[in-house]
Amino acid sequence: MSKKFIKTYEDGPVGVIELNRPEVLNALNRQMIDEIVAQLEDYQRNSAIRVIMMKGNGKAFAAGADIEEMKNDTPTSMELADPFAVWDRIASIKKPIITAVNGFALGGGFELALHCDLIVASEDAKFGFPEVKLGVMPGAGGTQLLSKAIGQRKALEWIWLGEQMSANEALELGAINRVTSKELVEEETMRLAHQLAEQAPLSLRLIKEAVDVSSDVPLREGMKLERKNFYLLFDSQDQSEGMQAFVEKRPPHFKGE
Ligand code: HXC
Repeated sequence: MSKKFIKTYEDGPVGVIELNRPEVLNALNRQMIDEIVAQLEDYQRNSAIRVIMMKGNGKAFAAGADIEEMKNDTPTSMELADPFAVWDRIASIKKPIITAVNGFALGGGFELALHCDLIVASEDAKFGFPEVKLGVMPGAGGTQLLSKAIGQRKALEWIWLGEQMSANEALELGAINRVTSKELVEEETMRLAHQLAEQAPLSLRLIKEAVDVSSDVPLREGMKLERKNFYLLFDSQDQSEGMQAFVEKRPPHFKGE
């Protein structure tokens, strides 16, 4: 697929996706979401890539779904095009996805960040769900993912009011992972991506799977999956390497096998 609305490049083991519609604050039209998801899947298949990093540009990460594109939709046009179905495919990406949020992350833009595993924000970033002010509501998982991250009561208040929150408020609530200066947000996110890329890839993958199910399945089921994943890792060369390196008092070299 040709990429009109994103830029992509690789920084060693880190595959980068840069949202690229700065003239409309990276408003997410449907083709752009298709491109993002297709690229995530490309990186998932590419064995040289261990971690995926997403970022915005200019004044925004993304100021939401493209209101121009959406404004004349009807229930029937939505049902036929089912534009949000493609978002479900993000959940099947097994590699870590971390995102650098600069400027606005609103509506669908905040939802996109919440679909990522870790969120690093610049101190001037603004998060929020303004949909209520447009007479609609979040539609790509925002009500669920925010409630999961910060609890129902705070999520309800935030989404009802439609207000923007600062990066520090979002951090305090547990909606994001880290806040950095504006100048350092990309560098810090890339540093974190490289740090993750040095960990054993199969461990990262099975940890992500176990943590992801924790809010969807009963405790015992989640613990069973965790135990299975733990046992499974003892089939990997990286488990032998990690434990041997410890015994030999040297750093491990993980291959993802
Ligand atoms: C289409 C958008 C847009 C959007 C900004 N633009 N957000 N176009 N869809 N979501 C365009 C503006 O029309 C403008 O184009 C240009 O980007 C710059 O924006 P300004 O408004 O001039 O910038 P500023 O004054 O700095 O205000 C920034 C802003 C404001 C506060 C972020 O743009 C804003 O409120 N945007 C809409 C935010 C929003 O409601 N998002 C939720 C969308 S619904 P021109 O051509 O005039 O220069 C949604 C549903 C999700 O996300 C459903 C699941 C996917």
